[in-house]
Amino acid sequence: MADLISIRDLEKPTIEKLLESAQKMEKNLFTSHEKFQGKVAATLFFEPSTRTHLSFQTAAQRLGMSVVPYTHSNSSSVKGESLQDTLKIVDGYADALIIRHPAEGSARWAAEVCKHPVINAGDGGNQHPTQTLIDLYAIQKARGKIKGLNVSLIGDLAHARAMRSLLLALGMFGAKVKLIAPKGLEMSEAVVEEAREKFGAQIETSEQLDLAGADVAYVCRIQKERFSDPYQAAKLQASFRIMPELLKSAKDDMILMHPLPKIDEIPPEVDASPHAYYFQQAACGVPVRMAVLEYALREG
Ligand code: NCD
Repeated sequence: MADLISIRDLEKPTIEKLLESAQKMEKNLFTSHEKFQGKVAATLFFEPSTRTHLSFQTAAQRLGMSVVPYTHSNSSSVKGESLQDTLKIVDGYADALIIRHPAEGSARWAAEVCKHPVINAGDGGNQHPTQTLIDLYAIQKARGKIKGLNVSLIGDLAHARAMRSLLLALGMFGAKVKLIAPKGLEMSEAVVEEAREKFGAQIETSEQLDLAGADVAYVCRIQKERFSDPYQAAKLQASFRIMPELLKSAKDDMILMHPLPKIDEIPPEVDASPHAYYFQQAACGVPVRMAVLEYALREG
C-alpha cells in the first residue's frame, strides 16, 4: 500500500506506469475488478470540490469499491472534534482515505496518523498530485508526448497547488515551461529552483499574457480564498483573461487547459473554440484516479 501526498513522491517510471494503467482503465471502464470488491474508500473534503470529489467517487465505484463520503459541514468537526481524532476514526472504517484540506502539509500529516493509504486531493496552496497526473495524461493523449512541448502556465501561480505540482512534473518530463503570472502572483522561487536543479528544467517567466509559440496553454483561476484582500483578488481576476481575440495569436494546434472551476478567466464563448480542451481534460479524471486507487491499494 502507498500514500500519494506530493508529486515528489513519484519517480518518473512510476508516473509512466500510472499513465499506462490509466490508459487501460479508460479502455476497460466497464470491466469488473474483483480484487477491489468489498474495499471501502473514504473521501474527506474540508474544502469545496466538484471534479476531484466526484471523479474519485466514480473511480472507486467503477473499480467495484464502495465510498463513504465525509461531509465537513455536517460532521463532529463542527462540534470541535480534532482533525486527528476524525482521521483515526475514518482510518478504522475504510481501506483508503482521500483528503482535501486547506492547511498545507495536512495530507502528509494525515498519512502519518493513518495506517491505511492516504491520497492528497489538495492541501492548501501546496500540492495536488492527482490533478497533475490527469494533466500529464491529458497532454499525452492530445499531443502524443510531453517532452519538448512549450507549455505556458498562466494565472495565479503563487497560490494554485495544481500549478506547483504540474511545474515539477513538466520539468521531470522535459517540457519547456513559461510561467505567466500577474505581478505579485508569481510561482514560488523555491519550486522554480527545485525544478531547475532536479530536472534541468527550462523555465522562463513573464508578466505578459501571451499565447504565441505555446503548444499547451494551461490557465488557472485567481485563488481568491487564499487572499487576505478580496478586493485585490477581484481586481486581478478581472485583469487576466483569455479573450477570444487573444486566441488568434495561438498556434493552430495549441490546446487550452484548465483544472477547473473556471470563473471568468476563460469566458464561455471560448468553450466552442477548437483550442478548448478543458472538458476532455476533466473527463480523464476517472481513469487516472482509478489508476491512483490501484496504486495506493496495491499489495507488497
Ligand atoms: C483545483 C483545486 O482545487 O486546486 N480544482 C481541481 O481540483 N480541479 C483548481 C482550483 O480550484 O482552481
